[in-house]
Amino acid sequence: MRLEVNIASKTLNNAAGGRYDVLADINFSLAAGEVGVFVGPSGCGKTTLMRILAGLDHDYHGRVSRPANARIGMVFQEPRLLPWRSVEQNVRLAAPLADEAKLSALFAVLGLDAHRSHFPGELSLGLARRVALARAFAVEPDFLLLDEPLASLDDALAARLRDQIANLVDSRSVTTLLVTHNVDDAARLGDRLFLLSSRPARILADLSIGTPRRARGEAEIAAIKADIARRINGDRIERDAS
Ligand SMILES: Nc1ncnc2c1ncn2[C@@H]1O[C@H](COP(=O)(O)OP(=O)(O)OP(=O)(O)O)[C@@H](O)[C@H]1O
Ligand SMILES: [Mg+2]
Repeated sequence: MRLEVNIASKTLNNAAGGRYDVLADINFSLAAGEVGVFVGPSGCGKTTLMRILAGLDHDYHGRVSRPANARIGMVFQEPRLLPWRSVEQNVRLAAPLADEAKLSALFAVLGLDAHRSHFPGELSLGLARRVALARAFAVEPDFLLLDEPLASLDDALAARLRDQIANLVDSRSVTTLLVTHNVDDAARLGDRLFLLSSRPARILADLSIGTPRRARGEAEIAAIKADIARRINGDRIERDAS
């Protein structure tokens, strides 16, 4: 699925009645199967942008184009499970057509086998995030949106889930957008890295990584991370100086 984004602006009202811009001139396109990663400071507008791209918010100036019949899978920043439904029911409700073999494989890969009959209130945040991932993957999306899916997980688990996201995305060529504060995840997962400014979010840099995910060595990953850090710090120094 190809995605074409031209958002001129997105404005919000605050509780005091003031209006402020959250997004400004967000223009990019993603080819089918590409993984784009947004990295930007807290509060800059990443979740706002993801909601627009998922089609959940139409109140902005600009245009987002994707095929009308594209299947969308989304992992929200908060897991957002239905509290009165079991883990298994939460996933099945999102993907009623998914067959048992596929769901079993998904639960196994995400380490959720023992939790299928548990309710969200019985889960740790890390487990709830995995259920949210299972729900997004179960729909076999053409377009996958992941808003900080690996936050608050320990390093080993985050690395394992990151590999699983990479496997899934590569096996079905899913056009994907991921938000993260972790430059290591960005450098390992992304084909394109979008570095965002503080609010209103603008694209400070749009970096294409030529080497396929699987072929990236540790030296290249370190170089990508250093490049991201240099650009983010450069922006911070410029802002502090102005
Ligand atoms: N419904 C709303 N009404 C008013 N302001 C909002 C609303 N939702 C978000 N904001 C504000 O818009 C800005 C962008 O919020 P958003 O959640 O998109 O940021 P973010 O980049 O996802 O941050 P984080 O990294 O902390 O998740 C913030 O300043 C936030 O306070
Ligand atoms: Mg957010």
